[in-house]
Amino acid sequence: MNEKVWSTVDDYFSDALVGSDPVLDMVVRSSAEHGLPAIHVAPTQGKLLNLLVRLHGSQRILEIGTLAGYSAIWLARALGSGGSLVSLEGNSLHARLSRQNIESAGLSGIVEVMVGAAIDSLDRLIEQGTEPFDFVFIDADKENNDIYLGRVLQLLKPGAVIIADNVVRKGGVADRANHDADVEGVRRFIKLLADDERLDSTAIQTVGVKGWDGFSISIYQPQQSDD
Ligand code: SAH
Ligand code: DHB
Ligand code: MG
Repeated sequence: MNEKVWSTVDDYFSDALVGSDPVLDMVVRSSAEHGLPAIHVAPTQGKLLNLLVRLHGSQRILEIGTLAGYSAIWLARALGSGGSLVSLEGNSLHARLSRQNIESAGLSGIVEVMVGAAIDSLDRLIEQGTEPFDFVFIDADKENNDIYLGRVLQLLKPGAVIIADNVVRKGGVADRANHDADVEGVRRFIKLLADDERLDSTAIQTVGVKGWDGFSISIYQPQQSDD
């Protein structure tokens, strides 16, 4: 295990394949200046989210956990014309800063930041009969991941993709002695993915500038195919 080498390699790929971006650099700087934690996705991961949206042709994205808008900008930039993104954020300072950053990125016309506890916002979206989503990025308080998934499943188009960040937690997820609330939430979430026949999933471990972690990927397909 060598976090320094992971970071060096991550920086190498970031420099070679992602490149620097004045808007995203500004988002990270403004986030630090306002005292927000540096828990946004890595540049290589932001680019991965962007590529996944384009591979899938997603048009309507739901994000749970906005922070300063870093991942939201990566995701929203991948949308074609007519696309939209709704991002849920519980902290009003984070929401305010993210809106400023999204504005600076020229994306405020297609990104909406909803302030409030994510469960309440999800209930509001369900109640309003909002247009269903075809791509979801879950990245808020991991102890509620299972509850988020239950709500999210009521908001999806068939064929939708669900990604959840931080499902590895330095190996905590598979450590029976670890009863951290976030880790337990991730385990309940993974169990739901496994048990729901409408979802087909995998999880991938990652190393890099964010240490050792990983994400899950699922496709939602309500119609059973008999093959
Ligand atoms: N996706 C962001 C990082 C999100 S960090 C990026 O990669 O750029 C997690 C965010 O979730 C924080 O801003 C935190 O305030 C928010 N959050 C935590 N618990 C929440 C809850 N119960 N409801 C809504 N937002 C929550
Ligand atoms: C934490 C949260 C995240 O979403 C992340 O990517 C890394 C760390 C955290 O709460 O510590
Ligand atoms: Mg995260």
